[in-house]
Amino acid sequence: MTRRLFVAVWLPGEARAEAAGVLDRLAVAAPDVRWAPPESLHVTLAFLGDVDEPRIPALEECIGRALAGAPAFELALGPAGRFPAQGPARVVWLGLEVGRKEIAALASRLERRLVPAGFLAPSDRPFRAHVTLGRPKGARGFGRPADLLDGVRPCGGAVRVEEVTLAESRLTPRGSQYEAMARFPLTGIARSASSPREGDRA
Ligand code: 2AM
Repeated sequence: MTRRLFVAVWLPGEARAEAAGVLDRLAVAAPDVRWAPPESLHVTLAFLGDVDEPRIPALEECIGRALAGAPAFELALGPAGRFPAQGPARVVWLGLEVGRKEIAALASRLERRLVPAGFLAPSDRPFRAHVTLGRPKGARGFGRPADLLDGVRPCGGAVRVEEVTLAESRLTPRGSQYEAMARFPLTGIARSASSPREGDRA
């Protein structure tokens, strides 16, 4: 048996509530998109695909090693966008105003451990942190004028991200359903600009 797995940062409560407000507004304007339920909103750090069940304990250990020493950080939602940027979109998303660098650092920690261990395929695409809000139901894509998304500019404050989640994705006729399998607390000590770097100490 295999399970379809990915590693992600789930949106903490206040960011999720803010995104829920955005979803409510977009759902009225674009009912032909399958909008995500707010509790499923996340930023994917690594998509693993099908993993053999007996390998999951080794995977969890590998993720734990990759994230050891990574600190909690602040995240704030940013303006909406779409993939691809031109033509009918397949994915509508929210970007991040705060926390992009930290999210990219977590993704690269995971990549460095999971690729050599055979859990993750190397990617040739640059990592773009995003929270997927919805995907069009039909084959025609999301063809709304850009100003619908241009008007979406979350302006809530930053929230603290304190853990990373290993989640399972189940494909159902109603869209993907996600379930948390393991959580990895971010317990490292954040380095400030003035604190000494590894190797700088005498
Ligand atoms: P997303 O980040 O654009 O939403 C589970 O499917 C999660 O992994 C989703 O968040 C999904 O896309 C992300 N993901 C990344 N690469 C994927 C792929 N090749 N197939 C399916 N999902 C992928």
